[in-house]
Amino acid sequence: MRIAMIGTGYVGLVSGACFSEFGVDVVCVDKDASKIEGLHQNRMPIYEPGLDQLVADNVKAGRLSFTTDLKAAVKGADAVFIAVGTPSRRGDGHADLSYVYAAAKEIAESIDGYTVVVTKSTVPVGTGREVERIIKETRPDADFDVVSNPEFLREGSAINDFMRPDRVVIGAESERSRAVMKQLYRVLYLIETPIVFTSLETSELIKYAANTFLAAKITFINEIADLCEAVGADVHDVAKGIGLDGRIGKKFLHPGPGYGGSCFPKDTLALVRTARDKGAPLRIIETVVSINDERKRRMADKIIAACGGSVKGKTIAVLGLTFKPNTDDMRDSRSLEIVPALQAAGAKIQAFDPEGMNEAKHMLKDITFCEGAYETLEGADALAVLTEWNEFRALNMSRVKAALSAPIVVDLRNIWSPEEMAAEGFQYTSIGRPSSPRA
Ligand code: UDX
Repeated sequence: MRIAMIGTGYVGLVSGACFSEFGVDVVCVDKDASKIEGLHQNRMPIYEPGLDQLVADNVKAGRLSFTTDLKAAVKGADAVFIAVGTPSRRGDGHADLSYVYAAAKEIAESIDGYTVVVTKSTVPVGTGREVERIIKETRPDADFDVVSNPEFLREGSAINDFMRPDRVVIGAESERSRAVMKQLYRVLYLIETPIVFTSLETSELIKYAANTFLAAKITFINEIADLCEAVGADVHDVAKGIGLDGRIGKKFLHPGPGYGGSCFPKDTLALVRTARDKGAPLRIIETVVSINDERKRRMADKIIAACGGSVKGKTIAVLGLTFKPNTDDMRDSRSLEIVPALQAAGAKIQAFDPEGMNEAKHMLKDITFCEGAYETLEGADALAVLTEWNEFRALNMSRVKAALSAPIVVDLRNIWSPEEMAAEGFQYTSIGRPSSPRA
């Protein structure tokens, strides 16, 4: 089998590399020549653990290649995957599908022989039909089928999520296209991975319903955390106590500053818009969106309150800038709201992130970027943890206390224990757990 993967971002590059690991011949296409040039030198355009090795192995095996020439990549391909960006459209929150439709048109012009055109990007319900219309209009003679095959990859664990998925969802409406997709996913089929075959619209909706449900589950535990703080309960014990119920499940019950990233914020907004447009509003998800938006502002207030009600003229050490650990991705990261809010309240910020610094330097202004965690703490009046990188969990608390000019810690990811922090003499505030006495 040979496929073309259009787009070499978090979805396209990981999916292309994993398909080549399955033994499929893959040509990844990107308009950005510098990205393709970098990939030819095994320089990854994104940080994803294990991706560079996976790419190098499959390039060496001759199953994976990169090009800017979409036409050549599409020619003779059994399937062409559209894995381009679908960012939130400015102003109204709908998904911007211009890149998807542009790719569909270019693919139409290049198709020769029966080809399955697959939407891998997260696209609103109805996009597959529109892609079908564009291709038919561009090339009435083309012999093709459109398929929806949404991804469920989490950044930081994307390769594992592709290789060992809970399920594969395929919206395919002809025997020929189903046969091609079964062949492509044969490796997973052989290890009995559930494959859900359904219609285009249903497949597209499954993706949005999954992400919005997960966003709602996170928002639920965040609100329960607030209640825990009010009644003196421990949110982790609540999460454990409910998560052991098979109907609830223990994953995605970690309280924090609210969800961010390139998916949940845009997908919740896009589905809410689609639902409203179709006269079937999703009021639960509308509430989830507003709670999550308001939460990021409240997190800055939490830090300011821990500093006695004012951070004016104070230095705050910030550990973690990316939207989650094990990624360099800063898109919709909570730090993009919390840091400016602290600066607006008069704080000076010194910050460190293991992988996100390059991205953060374009997105956060007037902060001191430090080379490591301990350096970040030097002379700071308080420490705020925004992203739960493992290296922060292992910090030596005596060194932390010696570096800070006041033992004030606000841990928005609950990476430390209130008991241990109180024993070390910190004024420790976290999420959904009793705070230690004021220093
Ligand atoms: C998500 C979905 O998990 C994935 O299936 C989909 O394909 C893409 O979107 P991703 O955005 O990479 O993946 O990260 P994820 O691990 O889901 O975290 C999203 C946000 O939720 C992050 O800001 C994270 O900090 C937050 N989160 C996640 C919580 O606050 N609590 C949790 O328990 C889990």
